[in-house]
Amino acid sequence: MAEIICIIGNKGGTGKTTLSHMLCQGLGLLGQRSACVLTDTSREPLQPEGRRYVTADARTREALGKVSDKLRSLDGWLGVIDGGGNRTEVDRRLYGIAGIVLLPFRESHEDIRTVVKDLEMFPRAYAVPSQWPTNPWQREAADKNVGQLMSDYRHRILRPVNALSASKLLLQRQVPDALPTPLANACRAFAAQVLDILELEYRDRNDDPLVVGEPVGRSTSDTPRPAFAHHH
Ligand SMILES: Nc1ncnc2c1ncn2[C@@H]1O[C@H](COP(=O)(O)OP(=O)(O)OP(=O)(O)O)[C@@H](O)[C@H]1O
Ligand SMILES: [Mg+2]
Repeated sequence: MAEIICIIGNKGGTGKTTLSHMLCQGLGLLGQRSACVLTDTSREPLQPEGRRYVTADARTREALGKVSDKLRSLDGWLGVIDGGGNRTEVDRRLYGIAGIVLLPFRESHEDIRTVVKDLEMFPRAYAVPSQWPTNPWQREAADKNVGQLMSDYRHRILRPVNALSASKLLLQRQVPDALPTPLANACRAFAAQVLDILELEYRDRNDDPLVVGEPVGRSTSDTPRPAFAHHH
């Protein structure tokens, strides 16, 4: 059975769609097969060509049922479900089928307040600082806010995913032939954290062609565990 990862949250524009594609691309780069599952009715499906993952359309309740059944039958795969914004009922359903749940949030107080509520509502979820500032001053302020406003949840906060303009390339209908290295690195780093939480092993060799049907290999690097993630 595939492991299901849901990216949800009660706020729009936090980066759910972007992160679901970054996660899948990163998983592919780490030799892990995944499907990026679209549930957002306001979005169009994207072409799978050039991506290191497959895409699945689950914009209706029936389609979501079919996709979940399919994923359940696939051993060794990961299904990443991109939840639509502001749909608490859908989020609850997705939460029910997920092995791990990710709640992206930006640095604003409003986002932080919302993610704290979501962390309370979804006790198995992790918060993902998203579109995080890279400018040292802004970053320090953002990290400080998180430290103060989310201190009770520090074990459930992943390492930030930086603001990266190249991230929008993955949301194009068709991805370019070559993706910029900083994007590939960000995808890989994010995916590695998620695999660590799931306690799945992976290989981390740059630019390895993805061989379909190849089993997930052993980790070749001593990738550190997520700084804040809770393990058992
Ligand atoms: N890491 C990032 N760096 C730079 N821009 C980003 C990043 N992640 C997301 N964005 C931008 O932020 C905006 C919102 O991102 P996205 O559509 O992924 O959010 P969402 O949570 O799926 O939104 P919605 O609630 O509408 O579904 C988009 O313009 C996207 O390009
Ligand atoms: Mg979205």
